[in-house]
Amino acid sequence: MHLLRQAFTFSLLLICFWAMQVSANELSTVEQKAATCFVCHGDKGKSNDPHFPSLAAQQSVYIVNQLNAFKSGTRINPVMQAQTVKLTAEDINNYGAYFAVQQAAKANGDSALVQQGKSKATACLGCHGTSGEGNGEFPRLSGQHPEYLAQQLTHFKNGTRLNGAMQALSGNLSEEEIKALAAYFSSL
Ligand code: HEC
Ligand code: HEC
Repeated sequence: MHLLRQAFTFSLLLICFWAMQVSANELSTVEQKAATCFVCHGDKGKSNDPHFPSLAAQQSVYIVNQLNAFKSGTRINPVMQAQTVKLTAEDINNYGAYFAVQQAAKANGDSALVQQGKSKATACLGCHGTSGEGNGEFPRLSGQHPEYLAQQLTHFKNGTRLNGAMQALSGNLSEEEIKALAAYFSSL
């Protein structure tokens, strides 16, 4: 009986190990395809150029939503529209899964602005997380380029990027407040 249980546990372990291997192999296949994304978004999604957001450690659900939004044109960006036009639903899910598990990028914001931003950030934490880590459809903001975060807040404010909650929240923010919030979240 004892031996039988040991054999059972061992085979369960083997199955788990096999399942992990498969998903690791799948991710390495995705990584080969993702090389086209690295050209702009940096190696493994860690971007060194503020024109291109980091994707590393971004929420998978959020990545999937954005790729679908670029593809359908509800989020307007000609560069990303061209990148997504031929992606299948499976490709999109794979990219979400791949980038979500990469090591997060770090960014350094101007420290005076970071302090200013901290005092205004309370309203954001409920959705974006107390460390700006995001959750599901709510994107990770921490470690992102401050220039990119500020640009996106401005897009929501102008209505050139659509999202009910974010348009309402950014509508009354001044340019200075936008810069401060962007610096704060990128520094987390
Ligand atoms: C030629 C450069 C370029 C390439 C190649 C590229 N991207 Fe992008 N990507 C951008 C730019 C620029 C933005 C920011 C768009 C904006 O300002 O709205 C962006 C934004 C994104 C976003 C939204 C990020 C966020 O925080 O909202 C995702 C997700 C994304 N890209 C995924 C990908 C994937 C996956 C690939 C590879 C299949 C890829 N990109 C290839 C330039 C590129
Ligand atoms: C009610 C929930 C909610 C609150 C509160 C909220 N956000 Fe958001 N935010 C979202 C959602 C959802 C998105 C993604 C929208 C989309 O899918 O295009 C987003 C997107 C963003 C983005 C774009 C990120 C990227 O990678 O492109 C920034 C920047 C941002 N929020 C900053 C803030 C700031 C700063 C505050 C506080 C003033 C805030 N948010 C409060 C829900 C919220």
